[in-house]
Amino acid sequence: MDNSRAQWGSKLGFILAAAGSAIGLGNIWKFPGRAYEGGGGTFVLIYLCMVIFFGVPLMLTELSMGRASQANVVGCFHKLGHKGWSWVGWVGVLGAFIITCYYSHVGGWVLRYVYSYAVEAPEVYVDPLGYFYATLGLAADETTHFPWVAILFAALFMLCNAVVIIRGVEGGIEKFNKIGMPALFVILVILLVRAVTLSGAEEGLRYMLSFDWSKVSFTTVLSALGQAFYSLSIGMAILITYGSYLPRTENLHKNTVLICTMDTLVAILAGFIIVPAVFATLGADHVGKGGGFAFVSLAGVFEQMPGGRLFGVLFYLLLLFAALTSCISLIESIVAFLTEHFSWKRTATTVGVCTVMFLIGCLYTCSQAAYPLKGFWIDTAGGVSFPAFCDAMEYLTDRLMIPFCALGCCLFAGWVWKPESAIREIEQSGVRFGMKKAYAVIIRYVAPLAIITILGMSIFGGITLS
Ligand code: PHE
Repeated sequence: MDNSRAQWGSKLGFILAAAGSAIGLGNIWKFPGRAYEGGGGTFVLIYLCMVIFFGVPLMLTELSMGRASQANVVGCFHKLGHKGWSWVGWVGVLGAFIITCYYSHVGGWVLRYVYSYAVEAPEVYVDPLGYFYATLGLAADETTHFPWVAILFAALFMLCNAVVIIRGVEGGIEKFNKIGMPALFVILVILLVRAVTLSGAEEGLRYMLSFDWSKVSFTTVLSALGQAFYSLSIGMAILITYGSYLPRTENLHKNTVLICTMDTLVAILAGFIIVPAVFATLGADHVGKGGGFAFVSLAGVFEQMPGGRLFGVLFYLLLLFAALTSCISLIESIVAFLTEHFSWKRTATTVGVCTVMFLIGCLYTCSQAAYPLKGFWIDTAGGVSFPAFCDAMEYLTDRLMIPFCALGCCLFAGWVWKPESAIREIEQSGVRFGMKKAYAVIIRYVAPLAIITILGMSIFGGITLS
């Protein structure tokens, strides 16, 4: 059965696909806002430490588990001889499933904005918030309607993903990333040049390079750690799937460092684009993060910047490529599991699973503004609460499932499969891994403790890391 298992066609293809998974909305619209809140350069420095001390070892662990087992996220635990731990894989697939439901819809809104800036930018500028809400089904006179615009674009976005996934690992995912990722880097550089040459940008640049330790608290450090996990696509067991398509000759350590570097570079560059651009146009206190910031506040930036409309199109194209390559990795992880576990056909599985995720995602979009759909959430501070359905979905994955799955992977690799097995897998390529001791200590003690702290703070402490 394993003889027919897909493999990456080239090393570059794998690196770009894994970097494509990592580089996503998190890098471009979450990182700059967090960096601003955390004191600019100070946050960047803390974030770098988190990537080095936690990101690299955890990514290495997931990739080596995948390659050693040559199996999907759940099958991996069976193949490595510890069936009892397959719950970690189940949390991973389920988490990936829920994230895809909404990530694909947000991707659809991004696609909508590429169109909006290309065709009707002045309409966005007149009333950015109204325009955004209208897309989501809430009119200016407060009446609501079915958010068909957002949903139509989400369907288109999902279709693009499905087409790539159906074409397979090498013919679809690898090929797409080989075009999408270079395009992303080119756009990033163009936007960077635009942002830093705006008059008044120096102040923002200075801020991003400054160190203000008074803005740093324990939460800043946790926020940097949570951001690093999300940004590197760690804790969804996605890298187990991507690692399972890697040949034994590949040097896992070198590849991991490269992927983490690319992801971090994009996040930092995005910070150096957004913070100076907002400082130069709207003013320092307008730097924000998330969808509201990217779809609403940034309109003012593009409106005021010379050539803003063109840069607006480029910015949303950048987001689009980032979202597509991440969403593809999420779907691939689910499809790989379903096709291997149940021996289903790839095309039918992809069509089926994408349709279901798209439909569930419709509830996410509908609950943004058009309909008062509620989910529920439990926290010890306030007991049971009924947040909007869309928020409940994000809480479930960001606050619970990602840290849980990451914790499961650490405990499994640290105490059950043992660091020696991971190290043996890492050294398969014939290159010695120089940091054995540090790796073992991090994976057994430091990382689990840090993740438990994150879990505790986000569930019981009412602290939002997302
Ligand atoms: N890393 C992606 C981002 O930065 C999000 C993601 C998380 C993708 C988990 C896949 C798995 O947006």
